[in-house]
Amino acid sequence: MLKLAVILPTFNERDNLASLVKRMAASLDGALGIGGWEAIFVDDDSQDGTAEEARTLSRADHRVRVIQRIGRRGLASAAIEGMMATAAPYVAVMDADHQHDPALLPLMVQALETGEADVCVASRFAPGASMADWNRPDREKQSELANRIARKLTGVELSDPMSGYFMMPAHTLRDVAPRLSGIGFKILLDILSTSERKLTVKEFPLSFAARAAGESKLDQAIAFEFLVGLYDKTLGRFIPTRFALFGTIGALGVVVHLAVLWLLYKMFGTGFLYGQIGAVIAAMTFNFILNNELTYADKRIHSLGGLAVGWLKFALTCSIGAFANVGVAEALVSRGAHWVLAAIAGIVIGSVWNYALSSRFVWGR
Ligand code: GDD
Ligand code: MN
Repeated sequence: MLKLAVILPTFNERDNLASLVKRMAASLDGALGIGGWEAIFVDDDSQDGTAEEARTLSRADHRVRVIQRIGRRGLASAAIEGMMATAAPYVAVMDADHQHDPALLPLMVQALETGEADVCVASRFAPGASMADWNRPDREKQSELANRIARKLTGVELSDPMSGYFMMPAHTLRDVAPRLSGIGFKILLDILSTSERKLTVKEFPLSFAARAAGESKLDQAIAFEFLVGLYDKTLGRFIPTRFALFGTIGALGVVVHLAVLWLLYKMFGTGFLYGQIGAVIAAMTFNFILNNELTYADKRIHSLGGLAVGWLKFALTCSIGAFANVGVAEALVSRGAHWVLAAIAGIVIGSVWNYALSSRFVWGR
């Protein structure tokens, strides 16, 4: 009888998988009463052969399952998809790099079965926890700060809402799943702050180990992802996160436009028209690259060919947006609107257009 599914999101973790499955078996076999377990690797098409390694393990042990996602990236969405893909009544999420000790899994199942809490969380900040082996005082401080801000903004009372190691009944996850953002924020915090019913939490002190093979994927993205997440949970319900990113980058693009125009027109004496053409191309390219990296990080275009086609589509979208912008402003002014208001209305309409169109035709799949 299947009792527990452990979801293991992976990105370039090939050399950690075999030993991890062994460790999980050592912790779980015979520890779940009559219940069995399965491990589901959710791999985002790692280039190091992680998915193939997972399939090799799966052929040797049918409790190991593999989901290989193509053209997608993201820890949170990988965790959600894994949890939705099992029939087990309990679901856990755990890192695949040996930083999380599987010995906590049976204790968590027990706590859920006896109804001690709705959610079990392995905490790096609970009494008895330790991060000595991690050896990353910088990350430790960042995590502490992030936790403090997260607690303030979401009202979730927990020593480690950033933890990537937790367990809950599958139905609890399914209740909130349709409302999870899947982008940015840490999945646990997202679940706790999205749930309409206040979920009770039991914390388990974790000895956060050093990563086994490979390196962390969250280092560069972490601060940005965190900010996006905070926005998503606070202002995101008024102006959608993606649109806010798109708009902010667009505003930066205006600065790029003016700077390039000044450079070409004033410094190089290209004449106004050629200066403008250069500035438009520079600003659009700037917007395209930043949106590809940030706004659509989860759907990022990688290949050179893809980038060229994407850039062309983006340019086409923006030129139609520019027509809409000018047209709306013109129509308003001719009906007696103030020129500043008319211009702003044009910009808003043009941006919404650019956003709607490019999210479908440039980054849509
Ligand atoms: N499928 C998928 N897609 N998996 C990913 C991705 C992704 O884009 N990015 C990372 N992973 C996997 C890794 O392969 C690893 O198994 C796990 O998610 C955690 O990623 P790490 O790169 O090892 O993250 P970390 O050790 O820096 O961060 C850990 O600590 C944070 C707190 O400081 C994680 O547990 C985080 O969840 C946690 O918030
Ligand atoms: Mn890690």
